[in-house]
Amino acid sequence: MKTKAAVVWEPGGRWEVEELELDPPREHEVLVRMVVSGLCHSDEHLREGDLNARYPIVGGHEGSGVVEAVGPNVTRVKPGDHVVCSFIPSCGTCRWCSTGHQNLCDLGASIAIGNMLDGTFRMHARGQDIGGMCLLGTFSERIVVPEYSVVRIENDIPLDVAAMVSCGVTTGWGAVTYAANTRAGETLVVYGVGGVGMNVVQGAKMAGCRYIVAVDPQESKRRWAKEFGATHTCATYGEAQQLVTDLTWGQGADKAIITAGVVDAEMVTAAFNVVGKLGTVVVVGLSAFDALTVQVPGMLLTVMEKRIVGSLFGSANPQSDIPYMLHLYRAGKLKLGELITKRYRLEDINRGYQEVAEGLNIRGVIDFTL
Ligand SMILES: NC(=O)c1ccc[n+]([C@@H]2O[C@H](COP(=O)([O-])OP(=O)(O)OC[C@H]3O[C@@H](n4cnc5c(N)ncnc54)[C@H](O)[C@@H]3O)[C@@H](O)[C@H]2O)c1
Ligand SMILES: [Zn+2]
Ligand SMILES: [Zn+2]
Repeated sequence: MKTKAAVVWEPGGRWEVEELELDPPREHEVLVRMVVSGLCHSDEHLREGDLNARYPIVGGHEGSGVVEAVGPNVTRVKPGDHVVCSFIPSCGTCRWCSTGHQNLCDLGASIAIGNMLDGTFRMHARGQDIGGMCLLGTFSERIVVPEYSVVRIENDIPLDVAAMVSCGVTTGWGAVTYAANTRAGETLVVYGVGGVGMNVVQGAKMAGCRYIVAVDPQESKRRWAKEFGATHTCATYGEAQQLVTDLTWGQGADKAIITAGVVDAEMVTAAFNVVGKLGTVVVVGLSAFDALTVQVPGMLLTVMEKRIVGSLFGSANPQSDIPYMLHLYRAGKLKLGELITKRYRLEDINRGYQEVAEGLNIRGVIDFTL
């Protein structure tokens, strides 16, 4: 079977949209027709060469679609099911899955290679095997992926809305709720309010934060953040530090969540400084694979009992939290459709990412129905 997909052939290359050969699903694999795929910044990290990935690779790890066929011994889904992709597969039985941390499943080990679990590849072109970002590669009309990488959802949820909870929403909401354990009345600062950070704002509002301070150099993002529940916005770290000092009578913020496109040491230090005693900094955003981004005075870490933690997929659990996010959406508690600011055809993916960089999108999406 043929599929049209956006491939990166080498680190730093452009997205190249071309036709690939796609093999049928093997044991424990499913064929999904993609409907919507979000333009998450992590795929730009992939394109830039930050993820230490194997190339060539098809990008995309946030999306939704319909199961068209299943290989032998698939039990989780059947043809016709609507699914949301999970960028970490969850086997259900490894140490991490069986202790409630499916986001850390051992099957995630090859997400930057993109081969199937038997070590082989389902996509081929120009005489080469091609992987899929996070075992997925959702920038493709059709994908063959492990059954462990899809989560079945109710068929009446619009698939564009559903794609949002595949990565950005759950990652942002979970960083606040699970990784930071945010409580009512707290002060939270978020660095970077794009497709992920906007859902930090939503999560903080739902948690009952007293002050939600969104820091982003782009004016458009600061404006949107107010609509999603930020009480204050700042363009610079210095402005945020002064504001939080004033708002909290010098005590500092309780939580700082870092969801900027590219994380660096200056940003982590700003977040470390903005939180007070017992404050938690959650690092969600990525940077180049070997960049040293956490460099803080250890003395203050100790005597003020601050904490710096990493969070993958918002420390959420794909199989249970993806449907849970959609329940919150149905209950009118979570804005999902409002996150989708522009829709692009797959052929226009380079322009899509350009417009993300220019601040024109909260979440732009590839819409395969266009
Ligand atoms: N840990 C995870 O599980 C996980 C999941 C998804 C995405 N990510 C990462 O999270 C980050 C955000 O992804 P996204 O899709 O929301 O990106 P995005 O491009 O949609 O948004 C990034 C935002 O950061 C802002 N920004 C840039 N420089 C800044 C600075 N110095 N201070 C504050 N804000 C700044 C930009 O203006 C933009 O609004 C990326 O690094 C992405 O790779 C991590
Ligand atoms: Zn993502
Ligand atoms: Zn597992």
